[in-house]
Amino acid sequence: MLLQTILTALAATPLHGVVAKPLHPRQIAQPGPSNIETEYNISIQGVLDNIGGGSKASGVYTGVILASPSTQEPNYSYTWTRDAALTMKMIVEDFIHGRTSFREQIQLYVSTQAILQTVSNPSGALGSGRGLGEPKYYSNLTRFNGDWGRPQRDGPALRATALITYSRWLLNSTDTANHDEANNVWDVIQNDLIYVAQYWNQTGFDLWEEVNGSSFFASAVQHRALVEGAALGKLLGKDVSAYESQAPNMLCFLQSYWNGEYILANINTEPGFNRTGIDANSVLGVITTYDPEASCDDSTFQPCSDRSLMNLKAYIDVFRAIYTINKNATATDAVAVGRYAEDIYVDGNPWYITTLAVAEILYYAKAQWANNDIVITDRTLPFWQYVYPSAQEGTYKPGQNETDHLLAAIVDTGDSFVDKTFEYIPEGGGLAEQFSRENGAPLSARDLTWSYAAFATMRNARVAALDNGPSVQSWGAPSKLARFGTCSPGSITGTYKPAVNAGAPDTAPPCTVLITFNLNATTFYGENLYLFGNTSDLGNFSVNDALAGTAKEYTDEHPLWKFVVELPPAETVEYSYLRKEPDASVIVETVHRAFAVPGCPADGSLGDALVEDVWVAPGK
Ligand SMILES: *[C@@H]1O[C@H](CO)[C@@H](O)[C@H](O)[C@H]1NC(C)=O
Ligand SMILES: *[C@@H]1O[C@H](CO)[C@@H](O)[C@H](O)[C@H]1NC(C)=O
Ligand SMILES: *[C@@H]1O[C@H](CO)[C@@H](O)[C@H](O)[C@H]1NC(C)=O
Ligand SMILES: *[C@@H]1O[C@H](CO)[C@@H](O)[C@H](O)[C@H]1NC(C)=O
Ligand SMILES: *[C@@H]1O[C@H](CO)[C@@H](O)[C@H](O)[C@H]1NC(C)=O
Ligand SMILES: *[C@@H]1O[C@H](CO)[C@@H](O)[C@H](O)[C@H]1NC(C)=O
Ligand SMILES: *[C@@H]1O[C@H](CO)[C@@H](O)[C@H](O)[C@H]1NC(C)=O
Ligand SMILES: *[C@@H]1O[C@H](CO)[C@@H](O)[C@H](O)[C@H]1NC(C)=O
Ligand SMILES: *[C@@H]1O[C@H](CO)[C@@H](O)[C@H](O)[C@H]1NC(C)=O
Ligand SMILES: *[C@@H]1O[C@H](CO)[C@@H](O)[C@H](O)[C@H]1NC(C)=O
Ligand SMILES: *[C@@H]1O[C@H](CO)[C@@H](O)[C@H](O)[C@H]1NC(C)=O
Ligand SMILES: *[C@@H]1O[C@H](CO)[C@@H](O)[C@H](O)[C@H]1NC(C)=O
Repeated sequence: MLLQTILTALAATPLHGVVAKPLHPRQIAQPGPSNIETEYNISIQGVLDNIGGGSKASGVYTGVILASPSTQEPNYSYTWTRDAALTMKMIVEDFIHGRTSFREQIQLYVSTQAILQTVSNPSGALGSGRGLGEPKYYSNLTRFNGDWGRPQRDGPALRATALITYSRWLLNSTDTANHDEANNVWDVIQNDLIYVAQYWNQTGFDLWEEVNGSSFFASAVQHRALVEGAALGKLLGKDVSAYESQAPNMLCFLQSYWNGEYILANINTEPGFNRTGIDANSVLGVITTYDPEASCDDSTFQPCSDRSLMNLKAYIDVFRAIYTINKNATATDAVAVGRYAEDIYVDGNPWYITTLAVAEILYYAKAQWANNDIVITDRTLPFWQYVYPSAQEGTYKPGQNETDHLLAAIVDTGDSFVDKTFEYIPEGGGLAEQFSRENGAPLSARDLTWSYAAFATMRNARVAALDNGPSVQSWGAPSKLARFGTCSPGSITGTYKPAVNAGAPDTAPPCTVLITFNLNATTFYGENLYLFGNTSDLGNFSVNDALAGTAKEYTDEHPLWKFVVELPPAETVEYSYLRKEPDASVIVETVHRAFAVPGCPADGSLGDALVEDVWVAPGK
């Protein structure tokens, strides 16, 4: 979640006034199972408190997963599709593993997501599918019109994955009512899978909401969703040909993120993008597409694969040098890790989810080596010498003594990252978003839902790695669909429908028209233009809900501001433009304009129209 607008990133203004809580190192600390279980219980409660109806989510629509109860510096009082889906993935796994009380939360998730799919928003509407790429909504299930990094194309895939895992449980039951429920849930899943099959090959914003391009995390979770979605659809007797046709193209594309040494987090980026590409994006992508039944497969970047191990080593090393709190760490110690070295958000700090992710990936790899040889090559030797200084190249078979030593070292290293995190968990066990690179004090949003969910999945991974509990479900990484195809671009246009049987209202227009408003308006740097009008899509003439324009094509000769808006067909809208000045004052045009939106093309596809305007005084 985060500050993402390009403007904000460029301004590079650290958030001031963040109150650092007093640090109580090692209050809960000391690694090991008993502290992990205590913090795990705190984390499960922390998640539940942040869901509408929970103790820290008053005024939130029942069942909606809030990102954090923090309402200022930063205000995360919204629901993000990605954070909610990752949290629900954890909840569904725990439900399957016996926490039956979670079923109500899952069913509320199904119905609230069915509603959200129909809420038209600045990314678009359901009719074209484009609206599914919207990253966040108000917690009362209405659209958020503010400036943001959109679309973000990982959300639908992650939501599909959470619901597919639940549906497989429903279908595995002998109760036919559960089978009917699976058919209703499918209507939500299907919209998300169609979205992935249609839009996977287009750019969007990454999980940190900053980079417009192709994101490893997004591509990896999209591929996973289509593979498991096709398998589930077949069980339900649905047509899955679109997913089957795109999955191999996507796996092929996924290989482009590998540069021979580590995973490039972002490719197909815009000119001027200048980062190494080493980023927690890739570590989280590997975790989210872990398959306990897979081999140490490089092509799907499994945790125990050479690629994943090399990437993990490169990732950890980056943060050794840049954070003050890591200053005394030796080359074999655990360190606090963050998103990426170039991070400037809240001055760029370590995060709980990222430091825990290192442990989680190691526990998953350990579990995979129960069935796979450890093959240490010259490429992975530096990683192995980090976890086990006397490691040597060779093949180590399950059950051999040396293999057991290596595996014990992997678990110890994972534990040392959990221990490192515990050093910076304050008394009471609350998990914020970040902790200070200077002194380890918690920073940014408090009680971050994703931090709690990440602690829970790390704990479950550890339990499974030590053979003390069940693993997460397989998604079919060893299946035919997760094998290479040819590297072709691709897109299948599908038909989206409100998931009425899952709780969606039947009000979304079946088709929409994409309108480009071109406005000539001379502006100075720091002055921004917005569009608003008399419909909900145009913010009901409310200045706060006006839609931001882009000046990407602005030149002195052609002072062009562009607004792209998806509107229902055949309605007349009234609209005006406004300027927001650097001092936050607002200048509104003196005219109200009217525009008659045309009908959709006869085949019901997305229509388009162009409007050319010139700013009308006051101002230039
Ligand atoms: C965690 O909660 C469970 C009940 O959900 C309880 O049985 C267990 O004792 C708790 N563990 C710790 C360490 O508090
Ligand atoms: C935080 O955001 C919510 C949702 O937009 C808004 O209702 C609330 O007023 C904001 N809080 C503050 C303190 O600005
Ligand atoms: C939803 O919440 C937003 C932000 O708090 C508020 O501005 C808006 O009026 C609410 N909409 C409805 C329909 O309650
Ligand atoms: C399916 O149900 C059987 C019998 O209840 C159970 O043993 C198995 O673990 C279940 N599988 C899944 C994927 O839930
Ligand atoms: C689309 O797919 C092709 C083929 O894999 C690839 O070269 C291209 O970079 C992809 N573009 C995006 C934006 O995904
Ligand atoms: C993101 O990049 C694409 C090109 O890949 C471009 O068409 C689009 O306008 C960009 N989006 C934003 C918000 O800059
Ligand atoms: C990219 O970043 C590196 C390291 O910060 C810097 O040395 C280099 O000059 C930058 N290159 C460009 C083209 O901005
Ligand atoms: C590093 O070690 C020195 C000497 O023991 C100590 O004074 C300092 O506080 C330590 N720094 C950190 C960040 O742990
Ligand atoms: C392997 O470990 C067992 C049990 O610790 C020990 O008895 C045996 O000698 C070891 N074998 C080798 C080759 O080190
Ligand atoms: C706009 O107004 C309509 C009708 O009053 C209302 O239903 C809708 O929630 C409003 N939309 C926003 C974004 O405030
Ligand atoms: C906007 O400016 C461009 C470049 O000067 C011009 O070609 C175009 O006609 C103008 N648009 C309108 C609606 O006047
Ligand atoms: C918006 O204004 C147009 C033109 O005045 C009018 O035809 C239309 O009914 C209005 N829409 C709404 C939702 O009030």
